[in-house]
Amino acid sequence: MEMMKVITMRKSTRSYKIAQISDEALNKIINSGCAAPVGNGAYDTVHLSVIQDYDYLNKISKTAANIFGNPDANPLYGAPTLIIVSGLPNKQIPNVELANAACIIENMSLAATDEGIGSVYILGAIAAFHADKELLNALNLPDGFIPVSGVALGYPTEPLTQEREVKRNITVHTMK
Ligand SMILES: Cc1cc2nc3c(=O)[nH]c(=O)nc-3n(C[C@H](O)[C@H](O)[C@H](O)COP(=O)(O)O)c2cc1C
Repeated sequence: MEMMKVITMRKSTRSYKIAQISDEALNKIINSGCAAPVGNGAYDTVHLSVIQDYDYLNKISKTAANIFGNPDANPLYGAPTLIIVSGLPNKQIPNVELANAACIIENMSLAATDEGIGSVYILGAIAAFHADKELLNALNLPDGFIPVSGVALGYPTEPLTQEREVKRNITVHTMK
C-alpha cells in the first residue's frame, strides 16, 4: 500500500472481532517493529512480548480496569493480540525507553494497517504490570527491563476503509 494511504488509514481501533490475526501478519508486524529506530541503535535494550493467551489478556484487562476505578471498563478492547514493549531505562538518557517504544509501536501499527488489521496504542493498561507482580513475572523479562507501552491488535469490527484527510492538528512554527 502507498505510504500516505497507510498513514491516513491508521486509526485507533477500539472494537475487535474475536478471530486471531494470522502468524504471517503477526511476523510482518513484529519485523516492522524491529525496523524502527531506537536510541543509540541499542536494540538489546528493548524487548517484545506477544500475548495471545486469552486468560492472561483477560487478567491484564481486569487489573487495569480496577486500577482505573471502573471494573466494567475494557482497556484492551477485546483485542486477541497484545504486544508489550519493554525497555531498559538508561539514567544518562532519561525516557529513552518510552521514545523507543513509541517508534516501535507506530511502525507496528502502520504495518498492521497495511494488513487491514486494527491497532491501538496501550499506555494506561501498562499500570497493571506495575500493580500486580504475577502479571509482571509472567512476561519473563530480562533483568532491569520494565514494561513501557503496548499495542493491541486484531481485526476491527468496522474495516479500516476510510482514508482520513490529513489535518494540521499540531501547531507548527516554521522559522526560515
Ligand atoms: C503515547 C500514547 C498513549 C496512548 N494510550 C492509549 C491508551 O492507553 N488507550 C487507548 O485507548 N488509546 C491510547 N492512545 C491512542 C490515542 O488516544 C489516539 O492515538 C489519539 O486519540 C488519536 O486517534 P487516532 O489514533 O485514531 O488517530 C495512545 C496514544 C499514544 C500516542
